[in-house]
Amino acid sequence: MPDLEHTPAQDQYLQISANIFKCLSQTKPPVAYHFFDTRIGSVKLLHPAGQRVPKVLIPRLEELCAEGNLFLNRTEYRAFAESLSKDLGVLATEELLNAEEVAGIFSHALAVNLDEFISQPLGQPYSQLVKDVAILCEYVWASPKRALPFPRTPGTEHTLALQSAGTCLTGLAIHTVLEHVHLDPEAMARLALGLLLHDIGMINVIVTKLGKEGPLLNAEKASIKNHTAIGVKILDRLRQQHVEIPPEVDLCVKEHHERYNGKGYPLALRGDKISPAGRICAVADSYCAMVTKRPHAKALPQQKAAEILAADDGYDPVLTRILARLVG
Ligand SMILES: [Fe+2]
Repeated sequence: MPDLEHTPAQDQYLQISANIFKCLSQTKPPVAYHFFDTRIGSVKLLHPAGQRVPKVLIPRLEELCAEGNLFLNRTEYRAFAESLSKDLGVLATEELLNAEEVAGIFSHALAVNLDEFISQPLGQPYSQLVKDVAILCEYVWASPKRALPFPRTPGTEHTLALQSAGTCLTGLAIHTVLEHVHLDPEAMARLALGLLLHDIGMINVIVTKLGKEGPLLNAEKASIKNHTAIGVKILDRLRQQHVEIPPEVDLCVKEHHERYNGKGYPLALRGDKISPAGRICAVADSYCAMVTKRPHAKALPQQKAAEILAADDGYDPVLTRILARLVG
């Protein structure tokens, strides 16, 4: 690998492994290919994004890749992450990306595939989400430390899919750090799916109310509060199509607005009457909302949001302490 140390290139470019190169379409690569030209001591563009790679160039790209001298510009990170969203399995064996970078790709990919499910809440896009969380949980189970950067992935952009992906990753990180929890990839995947789908009832609310500037009317607030019940109906509809849905999904959908002090909704459950999945989901969902720029509220810094939750008796204190430690 060329020595990129102490050059701006080190921060600006990401090395493309052979593993990832195979996953990128050469018909229309989503990113431009660069290499480090030792003659001039800087990175040069070899092939632009979105244009068919000529056959004669492919051996050259493979050679550079094997030498560790093929790079993508980090400005194209989003396109790169989206291109991997259908093939997340590649991340399980990827060695060149660090845990933060992999977390970012999982976050993007979950959001992209959840968006598809939101536009068409049917069995097929649901199956893709089941696969995604299974890969994610195998990746974490193989080395639980990999989940530690997850609560730092939520961005400030406000969409249902991004916030749900953030909730999934943040809740999973809290779960892996919990004492006395025996980590089992299948149980983790059931929880992760619940965390990802917890706000699915917002599908019908999102366009009309959530994008609205200024305060919400009482009728709008009531409509938003009803989203947990709408979520249950969507799950019922999927089950009528013979889609298998684990109970953790129901718990996250029904209980993520319940509060540890009994002041939540819809049932005002208190303390341990709320399931562990529901309690984790409440913390992760609130945290991800607080760090997001919403029409009626500014995005808070991650550490500040975690501190506010830790001081709020509406949340399980064991979980909020863990979150504060993870983002502190
Ligand atoms: Fe919600």
